Amino acid sequence: MRGKFVPLPNLKTALSILLYSACLLLEVNQVFAQPVMQAGKLTSFVRNANGVAIETEHAHVALTVFSPGVIRVRMDKKALGPDFSYAVIAKPDKTDFQLNELADKLILKTTTLQVQIQKKPFSVRFETPDGVLINQDEPGLSNAWIGDEVGSYKTLQEGERFIGLGEKTGNLDRRGSAYTNWNTDAFRYTGETDPLYASVPFYIGIHHGMNYGIFFDNSYQTDFNFGASNRRFSSFSAQGGELNYYFIFQPRVADIIRAYTDLTGRMPLPPLWSLGYQQNRWSYYPEAEVMRIANTLREKKIPADGITLDIHYMDGYRVFSWDKQAFPDPKAMTDKLAGLGFKTTVIVDPGIKIDPAYATYARGMQQDVFLRYADGTPYVGEVWPGWVYFPDFTRAATRAWWQAEVANYAKQGVAGLWNDMNEISTWGQKMPNNILFDYDGHQTTHKQGRNVYALEMARASHEGMKRATGERPFTLSRSGYAGLQRYAAIWTGDNTADEEHMMLGVRLLNSLGLSGMPFTGMDIGGFTGTPTSGLYARWMQIGAFTPYFRNHAASDSRSSEPWTYGEDVLNISRNYINLRYRLMPYLYSSFYQAATSGMPVMRSLAIDYTHDEQVYSRHYQNQYMFGDAFLVAPFASNKEFGRLYLPQGDWHDLYSDQLEHGKQAKALELHLERLPVYVKAGSIVPMQSLVQSTAQQPEGKHASKFRKLEIYLHGFQDINSVELAGKPLPVQMRQVAFLGKGDKYLNLPSVSIANSAEKITLKY
Ligand code: NOJ
Repeated sequence: MRGKFVPLPNLKTALSILLYSACLLLEVNQVFAQPVMQAGKLTSFVRNANGVAIETEHAHVALTVFSPGVIRVRMDKKALGPDFSYAVIAKPDKTDFQLNELADKLILKTTTLQVQIQKKPFSVRFETPDGVLINQDEPGLSNAWIGDEVGSYKTLQEGERFIGLGEKTGNLDRRGSAYTNWNTDAFRYTGETDPLYASVPFYIGIHHGMNYGIFFDNSYQTDFNFGASNRRFSSFSAQGGELNYYFIFQPRVADIIRAYTDLTGRMPLPPLWSLGYQQNRWSYYPEAEVMRIANTLREKKIPADGITLDIHYMDGYRVFSWDKQAFPDPKAMTDKLAGLGFKTTVIVDPGIKIDPAYATYARGMQQDVFLRYADGTPYVGEVWPGWVYFPDFTRAATRAWWQAEVANYAKQGVAGLWNDMNEISTWGQKMPNNILFDYDGHQTTHKQGRNVYALEMARASHEGMKRATGERPFTLSRSGYAGLQRYAAIWTGDNTADEEHMMLGVRLLNSLGLSGMPFTGMDIGGFTGTPTSGLYARWMQIGAFTPYFRNHAASDSRSSEPWTYGEDVLNISRNYINLRYRLMPYLYSSFYQAATSGMPVMRSLAIDYTHDEQVYSRHYQNQYMFGDAFLVAPFASNKEFGRLYLPQGDWHDLYSDQLEHGKQAKALELHLERLPVYVKAGSIVPMQSLVQSTAQQPEGKHASKFRKLEIYLHGFQDINSVELAGKPLPVQMRQVAFLGKGDKYLNLPSVSIANSAEKITLKY
């Protein structure tokens, strides 16, 4: 029998069928393309010495136990690549852990943390060892890729707060905000601008009386959402690379900072002079002007340790050169300054002028140090000197070339290097993404290299100066990445001379401190614009209670020396600079703490009083501790009244000694001459006699650097004497009082700093 007759489709029908099938195919493909792709089911796992390697349907994962409270999570679509980081210098400790398999999950357990690793789909949940939830991947969203972008989505906990994330505008508590890390020359930034100059992808989450840290070590552009226009998750994501984060669980915020700086390193103890007052302007030149400023500081008895030279000291903005007319003999000048007790810091920019007659450029070309495109031609960008090449600081050979150039400065008596424009700044224009970066042998592009560029420039400057001088160098950087604290102090760039900016600056420094960077400063007086005399005075007072105390002003702003705003302002400024110098042993001790534990010098109250909600109130969020003893309450200079919050403990008014009880708010009458400062009862504050620079020996018979202790105590027991290394020490007691035996202050950590062999003994 012949088959059933099937009529042939005419052309129109045939086309429709084709089109329909194409659509069907497209639809199927879309399902497979998965615009948001997750790891999928766990398919296998292998326990190894430090953790567990996991395969899932779509991802390769490694969980590594760094220490009982620190677990690293790595995840990629492809097999995990070489383990390389500019930020992390630690290796996993040998830590005991258990790994148990249940039907639906794996449980990895240390003495501090338990990670529940769900199998279908793969996700992680961090808990205390007895099962209390700390942080978990948000069910349904978990970890995911959107193209090359990789992100992790964490369930937002009730009442959860977020602090840190480095140099970020906004409130102390970042809940409800989102941020981007992409190092940017943020000239004239405002209280809302984001991103700014530096990237530190590390934050601390706080909820239900617990706190944890997350460090997302990925140098691509990263984005953080702390429940901004979303009430379901907090998240972090990167434009490329791996999901690579460290989960830190510790009892106190201070311990989290310690653990984070175990990973990324700590600030080495900086030279004492860099803690003194630094006078700066864009720009002091020629030499006669530099000497006039230095001499005037001494004549007017304004203690100071540093003079900083901005770009006009160079010949046509050629870094490592001097304008020979303005500075005919740099070494003679730095010697003269040293004779007056001043150290000289000079600015260095990364852009190298394209000029074959310029020796630094010629040597750079010869040693092939510059950033290039894929076709081998150097990237040409524009900045101060005109058209320039930029050194590839992510290459060891480039850093070695820079170090050799830096040695010339050392010969000329320069003591500090101020690394500017290193975001990289190209006149505020976008840099092309197709520029190649060596990334120390892991060749990549601008997309991954940009955020670590400044870190590696600061490293080259720091190591170059250290090698050339054999001394602890002072390095300052505008931009950076996590770990910058190992090489440099950081300042908050081009701020504005207004009250809001001053308060914003306080929060920026507090946030940097929470993020492992203790040596921080802002342009005191404001960089752009002219402050009112009141604002200038208040800013100087606050500056005396910041780690890096430098006054600076833009070239088109009014000159900003302490005598510029009249006699009253001069007196206020001098008083506070004097106080800073008297407090030098205390300050140095606080820096020592930072160098050994990561504890910042300028501490948001969220560090010591984490679970006191008042600390996060908009009224009190700018208050901070300066070292262990001082609570500083910064207020705008034009306010007559202010609200103060004193947390748990007893507090002495610095000026009247009056004792106040903590855990209460207070209304304050404000006076321009006095910045509200309180001293925590129980504090011992080592002080010294007034000097005009740290080069000058304080008075006193004792061989130690400090001459006096201020003791702020509670209780009522007499202390008969205080000895330092067996010799009596003059003590000023604010309250004759009791200090419990075994109290941590009996064995002041600071004491050994002044002279490592010495110990303080209090005799009852
Ligand atoms: C930008 C810096 O932020 C600023 O401090 C400096 O004065 C200018 N560059 C000029 O070098």
